[in-house]
Amino acid sequence: MLKILAFGASNSRNSINKQLAAYAAEQFEDAAVTLIDLNDFDMPIYGIDREKENGIPDAAQEFKSLIEAHDLILISLAEHNGSYTVAFKNLLDWTSRIEQKLWSGRPMFLLSTSPGKRGGVSVMETASVRAGFMGGEVVATFSLPSFRNNFSAEEGITDSELAKQFQEKLQLVRKHFAQ
Ligand SMILES: Cc1cc2nc3c(=O)[nH]c(=O)nc-3n(C[C@H](O)[C@H](O)[C@H](O)COP(=O)(O)O)c2cc1C
Repeated sequence: MLKILAFGASNSRNSINKQLAAYAAEQFEDAAVTLIDLNDFDMPIYGIDREKENGIPDAAQEFKSLIEAHDLILISLAEHNGSYTVAFKNLLDWTSRIEQKLWSGRPMFLLSTSPGKRGGVSVMETASVRAGFMGGEVVATFSLPSFRNNFSAEEGITDSELAKQFQEKLQLVRKHFAQ
């Protein structure tokens, strides 16, 4: 059974990216999904002096173990000022001190969404390139623009053209594991 580690890359309690990540993970039939919340991986802001004095926090070790225990990493990226949220970047920085290639060769399905028309394409540009340098294999990406117009909790992606594009991306990921 495919084991999926899914999360929204945000520490917002009402994260729209957490909603999108949960929805995307549900689309995989016969998968075991672990949906995590970045609030459970809260750590001090990374600093070399903190690392020297106190070592790497347990939460980073726990995140690294979760990556290794799953087959697919599914992330929906929130965009803050064109890039990662501080919560996600901090998690990346701490975990990269355990192993720079922190994604451990895992296939990745990267999503993003925002209330705006670009749907987080700037953070996606960064994340999709950086994932490869950090030991991940990006299998598919999908950005959902104008979340509140194009997504509902009951129906998922409501715009038919965007729903079709999303299904195509899902197929790419399914095929990757069918090989
Ligand atoms: C500090 C800050 C910066 C933001 N910068 C952007 C941005 O660059 N692009 C964008 O589309 N939305 C931006 N937004 C709006 C977020 O996309 C919006 O808050 C969204 O809900 C974040 O995703 P989340 O709900 O999963 O945390 C920003 C919001 C905050 C609070």
